[in-house]
Amino acid sequence: MKIQLQSPDRSCECNVMIVPWCKSDTIPAQLSGYDAALSHEISRSIEQGKLEGKEGEMAVFPSYGKLPAKRILLAGVGSPDKLDRHILRKVLHTAYRQCLRDETAAIRLSLLASHFSADELVFEAATCLYSAAYTFDRYQEKLDKTPSRLSSLFIQIDRKAKDHAAVLREAEITGNAINLARDLVNTPANHMTPALFTEAALREAKNAGFGLQILEQKDIQELGMEALLAVSRGSTEPPKFLILEHNTGRTDLPTVVLAGKGVTFDSGGISIKPSRNMHEMKTDMAGAAAVVGTLSVASQLKLPLHLVGLTPLTENMPDGRATRPGDIVKAMNGKTIEILNTDAEGRLILGDTLCYAERFKPDYLIDLATLTGACIVALGHEAAAVLGNNAHLIDLLKQASGLCDERIWQLPIWEEYREDLKSDIADIANIGKSGAAGTIEGAAFLEAFAGSQAWAHLDIAGVANTTKPRFYSIPGATGYGVSLLLQFLKLLSTTGV
Ligand code: BES
Ligand code: MN
Ligand code: ZN
Repeated sequence: MKIQLQSPDRSCECNVMIVPWCKSDTIPAQLSGYDAALSHEISRSIEQGKLEGKEGEMAVFPSYGKLPAKRILLAGVGSPDKLDRHILRKVLHTAYRQCLRDETAAIRLSLLASHFSADELVFEAATCLYSAAYTFDRYQEKLDKTPSRLSSLFIQIDRKAKDHAAVLREAEITGNAINLARDLVNTPANHMTPALFTEAALREAKNAGFGLQILEQKDIQELGMEALLAVSRGSTEPPKFLILEHNTGRTDLPTVVLAGKGVTFDSGGISIKPSRNMHEMKTDMAGAAAVVGTLSVASQLKLPLHLVGLTPLTENMPDGRATRPGDIVKAMNGKTIEILNTDAEGRLILGDTLCYAERFKPDYLIDLATLTGACIVALGHEAAAVLGNNAHLIDLLKQASGLCDERIWQLPIWEEYREDLKSDIADIANIGKSGAAGTIEGAAFLEAFAGSQAWAHLDIAGVANTTKPRFYSIPGATGYGVSLLLQFLKLLSTTGV
């Protein structure tokens, strides 16, 4: 992707000039130049009521050689008093999607200058291009060998271009990191084993400059992470545990640990899942993918924080050596777990991971996991559930969520839920007796391993993937978590812990 900044310029040669515009009674002055060149077709359409500038309205005007842009795309952003960043992003996505077969596009943002800062406009224009132009077609034979694909964008904005170079760079880094997370999640499980995920993380560590330590099966055994080992037993792929680190050893800076569930395939194990939709369980490492993406951004942007990413990686498979329902294992903190359902494996691997986090003495510990189908029942695909033991942390996450399109909704952890996880013969069971409140009880289980750390859990089961196209995503992985965590980390680096 090549994105360049330039001043508003009608002589810009491109396949399409995108002009977001607000509904108004008269034709905006900035459009009149185009209107004149197009023999007043635009103003005629407005007069005839064919063009209203409604939110999401897309109107194409071919220029028939009268302008250097082959066509003008007027993208309506709706009423000026309702316009916000969310609407802007929606409109930008719709507009870009209409230009995916064009190699070069330009976008003129001057009509929105009274609604947003120039930095906001540049950031959204660029990041939305990354998400809108994302494809996952590496497994498809290309019939047309050189299909044109939107790969070059001129962002036209008043003021000197160099003023916004830093924002543009930030947008490019963020856009690439989100798409990296999407690639990791979309890749099928035979090409995204714990070992292959590790290779991908290593490549990104080199590219972005963060540290990466790899714990192998024997290290995991020595640490006493029996819960993680219990999940991996049924698989021929050995587990791995990655420690990603930005600003390594900088104990003077606020420390945040991010833990991401990395089940590269979840068959359910001996408590096997129904075969319908089981293939979707290749995406059960979306939490780990978001952690890699976030470390990449934090490192490239040199955020003034000590950031640690922990990703336990394993498959969950049935086998003669697999963990049986009823087996008891001892987690890293010495707590015994009765594994009543081998399909509740995410909490097992994260339990050990939250114990491991203690050694970094984090100011904040956040885990992301495609943990429960119940979360989809509760919130659908519209929000992640957030639960935890620290109101301030959850509050910061809510604030961060308000700054991007990644919604979160809080659920409680009350004593009754904890009681439901009591085991008759071990310290805790990995599922509740009641079979109710699945998302909460998953979090209540994790809470027992977070100890006294300030911890929040994000259940991203409903938001990590989409089966129907959404404004920000084609079907498949969404990259959920990278934007939310980035906003959170930026809040933290400006306001402190
Ligand atoms: N990975 C699944 C949760 C999931 C389901 C994510 C559907 C995305 C879509 C998780 O490991 C799981 O199997 N959870 C069980 C927990 C139950 C056994 C307590 C579930 O949700 O059914
Ligand atoms: Mn499972
Ligand atoms: Zn799972």
